[in-house]
Amino acid sequence: MTNFSYCVPTKIVFGKGVEEQAGQEILACGGKKVLLHYGGGSAERSGLLGRIERSLEAAGLPYVRLGGVVPNPRLSLVREGIALCKQENVDFILAVGGGSVIDSAKAIGYGIVHDFDVWDIFSKKRAPTGCAPIGAVLTLSATGSETSASTVITNEDGWLKRSGNSEYIRPRFALMNPELTYTLPPYQTASGGVDIMMHTMERYFTAPADAELTDRMCEALLKTVIHNLPIALANPEDYNARAELMWAGSLSHCDLLNAGRDRGDWSCHQMEHELGGMFDVAHGAGLSAIWGSWARYVYQHNIGRFAQFAVNVMDCTLDFAHPERTALEGICAIETFFHSVNMPTNIKELGFTLTDAQITELAHKCAFDGTRTIGSFQTLNEQDMAAIFTAAR
Ligand code: NZQ
Ligand code: ZN
Repeated sequence: MTNFSYCVPTKIVFGKGVEEQAGQEILACGGKKVLLHYGGGSAERSGLLGRIERSLEAAGLPYVRLGGVVPNPRLSLVREGIALCKQENVDFILAVGGGSVIDSAKAIGYGIVHDFDVWDIFSKKRAPTGCAPIGAVLTLSATGSETSASTVITNEDGWLKRSGNSEYIRPRFALMNPELTYTLPPYQTASGGVDIMMHTMERYFTAPADAELTDRMCEALLKTVIHNLPIALANPEDYNARAELMWAGSLSHCDLLNAGRDRGDWSCHQMEHELGGMFDVAHGAGLSAIWGSWARYVYQHNIGRFAQFAVNVMDCTLDFAHPERTALEGICAIETFFHSVNMPTNIKELGFTLTDAQITELAHKCAFDGTRTIGSFQTLNEQDMAAIFTAAR
């Protein structure tokens, strides 16, 4: 086990009706004026936004509203939010939605406390030194943004999707009512489930991987999602299945599951972010389309690790004489699972075909114009990335 520090300051309030506590939680954080930030309409249609507004009013908190966050959230709306918050003296941002809304809120929070252009943080020109406080009312179990130190924003100028990570942006609180996810379309439920799994698998397939308790927690979380995702798809109002997925999402990306080993591989995430930036795909579906090709490209680097995954997560039988067969069986088994929840296992199944020129561009962007490699399980350069995009095509 390697040295680690683990600190997740997000207060989680979980269960039915907890969104009613929004106003009180903001007061407890010292917030005086709120930006109510939300997406394209689902929170309005379900009546959630109205309940939140009543909670703010009951707490005596003035607020301004900014909706319109789209999946793969855009820099232009972030800039609009920063200007609005500065003009209105907002000191607390409440995100009501999924990962895109929470990420947009985090980016606005960065912008409020810095006097330079917020994109400088995402383009790694400048390091952040703080963030305005954020709270989240979660409506989609997926990204774990409600507890994570990450935000991912798309710059329309060049369609670059970049992350701006730091400890400053972990939300102060997350209000998590599984009932709020009942209205999700099946595709978003499944895409979210895959994303939760991927946050765990990116941490599981790392080197060195010698952290037994962390391994067991990863395996338990993966098996929990594999068990509950089909239940939630078959019956969207199954509270327990929705609750398990929601809790799994928060635990999968709060850094608990990399305790004692490095922070993760993240190759699939880096490559998917380029796909999301250029083609606007749902994040989890994009990961689902890439993972098998990545796994087949790298598994020989540590066959034992893939065989352990196959046995402990996918219930394959270990072939002692030929562990490589078990490793490959595990990769096939998870692809079978992805198909069973209508998630793609290649890019064509996402609905488009990549040209050679697009693959070159995706790999070049992902390699930051040839200036970086990605991955820790196996380091990948620009050519490796192009090979994986080609295999996934
Ligand atoms: O905009 P509305 O109308 O709310 O509709 C949304 C959106 O169209 C809808 N939705 C959300 N909750 C709903 C609902 N529809 C009905 N009922 C509900 N309860 O779902 C659609 C997708 O929402 P979005 O927030 O985009 O999805 P998700 O939570 O998967 O977030 C994806 C974004 O987060 C980033 C991804 O790259 C992507 O941009 N990620 C953020 C991370 C982080 N901050 O830690 C980590 C992840 O790896 C990921 O990269
Ligand atoms: Zn993700």
